[in-house]
Amino acid sequence: MGSDFAEYKVLPSLKEAAMASADSICDIVNKNPQAVIFYATGNTYIPVYKNIAEKIKRGEADFSKTYAFHLDEYYPCKTSDPYSFVSYMRKNVFMPFKIKQNNCFEINGDTKNPDEEVKRYRKLINEYPADLVILGIGPGGHIGFNEAGSSKDSRFRLVKCSKETIYRDRVERGQNTPNKAFTMGVADILKGSQILLTAFGKSKRQLMRKTLSGKVNSSCPASYLRLVGKKVTIFLDKDANPFQQTAESHM
Ligand code: GLP
Repeated sequence: MGSDFAEYKVLPSLKEAAMASADSICDIVNKNPQAVIFYATGNTYIPVYKNIAEKIKRGEADFSKTYAFHLDEYYPCKTSDPYSFVSYMRKNVFMPFKIKQNNCFEINGDTKNPDEEVKRYRKLINEYPADLVILGIGPGGHIGFNEAGSSKDSRFRLVKCSKETIYRDRVERGQNTPNKAFTMGVADILKGSQILLTAFGKSKRQLMRKTLSGKVNSSCPASYLRLVGKKVTIFLDKDANPFQQTAESHM
């Protein structure tokens, strides 16, 4: 199963998985200093992005000339809202990675005209083909905010968040999030030259099982990654590993 992917690794701890994920992002930038990268937000990537920021501080990586986009944003959402992905990106990526300001692109969750915002971001996605798309996995196997039911041909659009996502955000995480979001589509994600999926913790285990061994269909949008497995890298910690093996790697 792991051999269907560019790389598939289960690491013994969250710390090691976060480091493996950071290293693989830095490798891409070392090879292509102007890489176009679409970043997931969320808790999973906080330690990953911290590791990258540390490497940049130590002079081991240079992201200044890369192009940075985010995958998704709540709607409506102001930058000052605590759950804003724009503010997450500024705090955890744009600033610590020292990316040139003109190379940083944001989804405007505060727009009065969502259709225009969809057009604007779709145009940007076409103009800047992704060298790397960085993904987490969320309720129902969502990637970005492509909830269960999303088609593999979907493009950047405004969607309704699923009940499970709203439950996670409002009940489990205590955030007063809206029930809509902009998200890069499944087709936009699958077009990326490389795709990285990282998942930590027991709460992701069942989602990873569906992703890796369930049917490839819209009931678990992350399963679509298997359609382009040869460009997908997956890092899990042992708690997120649905197959309970010990640490292993398949190339
Ligand atoms: C969120 C975002 C995704 C993110 C995922 C996992 O809702 N839409 O982009 O990757 O869910 O989040 P977390 O890492 O906090 O579990």
